[in-house]
Amino acid sequence: MKFFLDTADLDQIAEAASWGVVAGVTTNPTLYARIGGKLADFPAHIQRICALCAGPVSAEAVGTTRADIIAEGQQLAALAPNVVVKVPTTIEGLAATKALAEKNIAVNMTLCFSVPQAIMAARAGATYISPFVGRFDDISEDGLAQLEDVVVAIENYEFDQQVNIIAASIRSAHHVTQAALMGADIATVPYDVLKKLVEHPLTDRGLASFEADWKKVITA
Ligand code: E4P
Repeated sequence: MKFFLDTADLDQIAEAASWGVVAGVTTNPTLYARIGGKLADFPAHIQRICALCAGPVSAEAVGTTRADIIAEGQQLAALAPNVVVKVPTTIEGLAATKALAEKNIAVNMTLCFSVPQAIMAARAGATYISPFVGRFDDISEDGLAQLEDVVVAIENYEFDQQVNIIAASIRSAHHVTQAALMGADIATVPYDVLKKLVEHPLTDRGLASFEADWKKVITA
């Protein structure tokens, strides 16, 4: 499983990239608003993210009609070769995905919450599909079970393009563990969760005992 960082924060991207584990970045309008992003600066900001991360960088089209999504998607894709256009899983989103894919523009279909949505996204030409785990949990559904269903269903078929499942709306190490065990291609993870993934109390305890014992090693 690859890790994408789910943020628009440049400092977080630069720091996590230095750990050698970040294969891509996903953004959305909420994440851009959270860093105080300005509308006029959005294209330049996406370019700054692409300069920090050579992997796929998802930038979301906010239009709701196919014409708007296609136009926005083409503008976003022109910003850098590694831009992936994020498109909502709706009828208009499917039509836009088909058109963008035909122009060889990679699409990440987002806000996916069901197997039929995922299969339709794949058939329309999406390179990435993002089932949301945490938000499904939030409505008292089982986000991980839904993710597993999507992974299995997509694996059952062949598509014209390679389809990558991104486990999205990830809130915990448990989500990441289960996503990895079920074979999700990618987990897109917020910075704070990514940091926690490497933490373990037994690692800390072991390190403390090694440090203490090292002081007992005879030096003379
Ligand atoms: C994925 O691409 C989304 O940006 C993200 O995972 C949404 O997560 P949230 O539910 O934490 O907002």
